[in-house]
Amino acid sequence: MSSKIVSGIRPTGNLHLGNYFGALRNFLKLQEENDCYFFIADYHGLTTHPTPENLQENVKQVLAEFVACGLDPDKATLYVQSDVPEAIELYLFFNMNAYLGELQRVTTFKEKARKQPNNVNAGLLTYPTLMAADILIHRASKVPVGKDQEQNLEMTRTFAKRFNHMYQTEYFPEPVAYNFGDELVKVPGLDGSGKMGKSEGFGNAIFLIDDEATIKKKIMKAKTDSGPTEKNSEMPDYIQNLFSLMDIVSETDTITQYKDAFADCSIRYGDMKKQLAADMNEFIAPFRDKIQSIVSNDELLSKIAKQGRDKARESAQRTIKEVRDIIGFKSI
Ligand code: TYM
Repeated sequence: MSSKIVSGIRPTGNLHLGNYFGALRNFLKLQEENDCYFFIADYHGLTTHPTPENLQENVKQVLAEFVACGLDPDKATLYVQSDVPEAIELYLFFNMNAYLGELQRVTTFKEKARKQPNNVNAGLLTYPTLMAADILIHRASKVPVGKDQEQNLEMTRTFAKRFNHMYQTEYFPEPVAYNFGDELVKVPGLDGSGKMGKSEGFGNAIFLIDDEATIKKKIMKAKTDSGPTEKNSEMPDYIQNLFSLMDIVSETDTITQYKDAFADCSIRYGDMKKQLAADMNEFIAPFRDKIQSIVSNDELLSKIAKQGRDKARESAQRTIKEVRDIIGFKSI
């Protein structure tokens, strides 16, 4: 059965492997049979980058990256968040029934507040209500995201339930964080700290536009040690992370070979990293080439953005009209 699916990505940098496996890859299958919306979260970007440089260029770059990953503007609705202001009205309605305590308890809020203590703004605090509005403006039931977004999805369900309860309706679904037939994904970064992310500094993330030399340089710098000294010893996290990346891009036989070498202490991390860099480059190359071939095609990108905006607004306008009716707004 066809479902409504929504997800978004902030345009605060290029797309990396985590974005691809956490969110985008799901859409490739989902867009075939469902009503899919995928947007560039430029409003959300302002919570951490209030005076963004080259905002339009970044948005264009991310749109090109969506298409390069295989998102099809004729199948899915690809749009820019700020092109659909109806969601902001829904954001306002949800904010009226969102409580300070629950917003302050969200882990991503606490993390961001720690990282930018001089800019703990209301947008950051109400990040989950805007996210709920992004999702529920299309009344979506599934949201393909990485594991880091799980709590935000829990908040979305809270706001949906609260609205339904307050107005004695079943209007909004309770959307779930979704990964195609599997558990939510967390792609590790290269700095040993756990998650691949664009804000963790150069070297942690592999971007879909990285060239061969950059990929190699980043991977060769990843943290390792002098190797295990006891057979079948436990793997340190930073080594496990390298194997997790291999799981994504390398052949099963290759992975088994290095796992066996770890178990019998014959592993040479230099060789393993060279192998990972070569496999990674092979995986990234088609994305890189496709991005390069479309990113400067302004005409194509603005056509795609317009097509997406029109489709997204149609869906959003329908919802906002119905929500206004439910709440009781009427012209006098
Ligand atoms: P953002 O821009 O941080 O990340 C975009 C998507 O990529 C996923 N992701 C990862 N998945 C696995 N491993 C990783 N290392 C990794 N890093 C990032 C994220 O889980 C996300 O799916 N709040 C969102 C943007 C957003 C949104 C929404 C998403 C705004 N409104 C509505 C879904 C629905 C964010 O900051 O994503």
